Amino acid sequence: MNELTTFDLPTHIAYSQSITANITINLSHSCAQAMSLADLVQLSPVDFTNINLEYASLRGSEELRLAICRYYQQYSQSVLSKSNSLSPDDVVTFCGGQEALAAIYQTVLKPGDEIVVFTPCYPSLISMAEQMGCSVNIVELNQANAWQFSIDEVESLMSAKTKLLVLNSPHNPTGGVIDTNLSKQLLALAIKYQCYLIADEVAQASNYYQLPLTNDYLSYDKAISVGVMSKSLGLAGVRIGWVVSKNQAWLSQLIAVKATGSICISAIDQALAICALMHSNEIIDNNNRLILKNIDLVKHFINEYNHLFEWVEPKAGMLALVKYLGSEGVEVLSANMANNYGVLILPSKLFGLSGNFFRLGLGQNNLSTGLGALKDYCTDFKPT
Ligand SMILES: Cc1ncc(COP(=O)(O)O)c(C=O)c1O
Repeated sequence: MNELTTFDLPTHIAYSQSITANITINLSHSCAQAMSLADLVQLSPVDFTNINLEYASLRGSEELRLAICRYYQQYSQSVLSKSNSLSPDDVVTFCGGQEALAAIYQTVLKPGDEIVVFTPCYPSLISMAEQMGCSVNIVELNQANAWQFSIDEVESLMSAKTKLLVLNSPHNPTGGVIDTNLSKQLLALAIKYQCYLIADEVAQASNYYQLPLTNDYLSYDKAISVGVMSKSLGLAGVRIGWVVSKNQAWLSQLIAVKATGSICISAIDQALAICALMHSNEIIDNNNRLILKNIDLVKHFINEYNHLFEWVEPKAGMLALVKYLGSEGVEVLSANMANNYGVLILPSKLFGLSGNFFRLGLGQNNLSTGLGALKDYCTDFKPT
């Protein structure tokens, strides 16, 4: 008898791990382009060899949390709530955004609770709740509505039983956004039903069209924002994520959960994150320029191959869903791309959306080589 509790790998990770071919290009990458350590440390006069390799503090250093406040205020907080300014006490750091999300779920949810999540989505937003015995009410995004949703659709899934509303904007994997106006309506719903609200804003700084994407979520004491080094900043190797909230009691609980997990962030990562956040304008500008260039490349590609591919251009972030129209279907395309060209393409079913879509990552500097491989596939396999 198997006495172990069963945990499944997140679907997109399980799929990537199951591929035996040698992958050299990830066309579904969810991050902006990474920098080398050498390029990052050049930005800062700090001598990294002097870092004291002690445990870091439980919350993360004051300097790091101050840098996170500034980053959050620049990219997320609306002008209105800037007067109610943030302090480092409103921030707790984690080893990545995923650890932060897991801690939030653990502090908020009990078996039998209901949560509202949008699909397709970052898989753990659903699987963590299911694993905890919660029921998940799903707002289905679809291409016909350009991946947008109405506030009525969301409210139709909410009731006094709703414990948590999970928002993610710019959205993984559709590239849709919750603008300032919509954020007000969503916040009003959370307040009406007195549920907790997660604003997963890991790609918030990738706002290359400078849309009005700021929000006032943190004026509500049951709201929390999640940020991370990996997505807009492209620094997934600096394993630091964070939460920002005005609810001190909740933050204390999150620290207690973290103390049974990673305990604290790495002192080396902490120094690197401070350096990156102090230079975030420069890093984000570079990354956003590359995303815009890549959007242009994809537009040209889709214009040329419009009998096989279509998409809704993303509004922000570095992800989009592309529909594959070839008769063999997206899963055959994905297998062939991996086995014959070493290119990873993740079908949308891994994110909870059936149909012939795949996630396209727009943040990487090898995107044009990946598109070249897709062209080769079209020439070699002659899909119709
Ligand atoms: C929407 C979303 N939130 C959170 C995370 C977690 O970020 P990290 O993997 O850096 O911990 C991811 C990662 O893919 C994500 O896509």
